[in-house]
Amino acid sequence: MWKDLDISLEKAETLKDMPSVENLGFGRYFTDHMFLMEWNRDQGWHNAEIMPYASFSMDPASTVLHYGQAIFEGLKAYRSRDDQIYLFRPTDNFERMNNAATRMSMPRFPVDHVLKALKGLVYLDRRWVPAAEGASLYLRPTMIGVDPFLGLKPADNYLFYIIMSPVGAYYAEGFSPTRICVCTDYVRAVKGGVGDVKTAGNYAASMLASEQAKERGCTQVLWLDACERKYIEEVGTSNIFFSIDNTLITPPLSGSILGGITRNSVIRLAQSWDIEVEERPISIDEVIEASDSGALRESFATGTAAVISPVGELLYEDVSYPINDGQTGPLSARLFKELQAIQYGHTENSFGWTVKVG
Ligand code: COI
Repeated sequence: MWKDLDISLEKAETLKDMPSVENLGFGRYFTDHMFLMEWNRDQGWHNAEIMPYASFSMDPASTVLHYGQAIFEGLKAYRSRDDQIYLFRPTDNFERMNNAATRMSMPRFPVDHVLKALKGLVYLDRRWVPAAEGASLYLRPTMIGVDPFLGLKPADNYLFYIIMSPVGAYYAEGFSPTRICVCTDYVRAVKGGVGDVKTAGNYAASMLASEQAKERGCTQVLWLDACERKYIEEVGTSNIFFSIDNTLITPPLSGSILGGITRNSVIRLAQSWDIEVEERPISIDEVIEASDSGALRESFATGTAAVISPVGELLYEDVSYPINDGQTGPLSARLFKELQAIQYGHTENSFGWTVKVG
């Protein structure tokens, strides 16, 4: 079935006005086209089409609206100085999404075909890839269950679609340091649950804590583990790193946190610079002790949307712990610069991470 998945093309008759690059924000504007394909148990994936960006109608009983059968990805396309367009590690995103599909009882999809569709879509809407450093085209592949049925079971019908949005910095702070509250009231995920899966419900469940953090003047929350409320998990929707005594430490992928592609890229870049990296449980007490003793040099979050976001202050049990005097540290800056240089195609693709479009 997958081998026969042709992709048809219907071009938009009128093209949208594009926002200026200074006003992009994050995820507010959408390009002229989208990709859509359908799945059902008889036909598998079919009706694959690049088409004008449009709303679609859904039965109010659709599985996704009641039982949250929804998975998604986030990746970006970048425009280089010489006007080439690059995707960053797209296959890794699609493989992660397929793993999520398995966990959420949804159908896996053919990565090669979907990558082909993505490249075609980005190429068609290439005028939307911003020509400004720090800005990019954010790509959002999504899969949802759409059975008009209220019994609880995996849907028999799915939509897979990709929409695209030109974006600037995710956080208002941009690359400036953020203030993070350690969340002691709620947890994000438990091992054996779906914390390691990019599924919609994880994000819905995090919103209350994020809103409360904002009321306290923080950009995001730092999540602790669900059992002991002791070990650090993630920050907001990103992975977290601490530089303590010249060792870069990040929590391990032990089932409750997302295996970030930016996280993996940072680990591999740091190792290539002979920086010692430890993927191991790190407790909030260890971080506080390191802060008190001066051993905590830097901390930063990593994610597709935020790229690298330095943490300038931790708020834990109403005590403030500044990190690197609230300034961006040299390692965060080096990693950000190098990662962006790779993503924008300004430096050699020595890790094989970038894929040219067109
Ligand atoms: C991403 O970093 O791509 C995400 O999916 C996070 C989202 C909340 C924007």
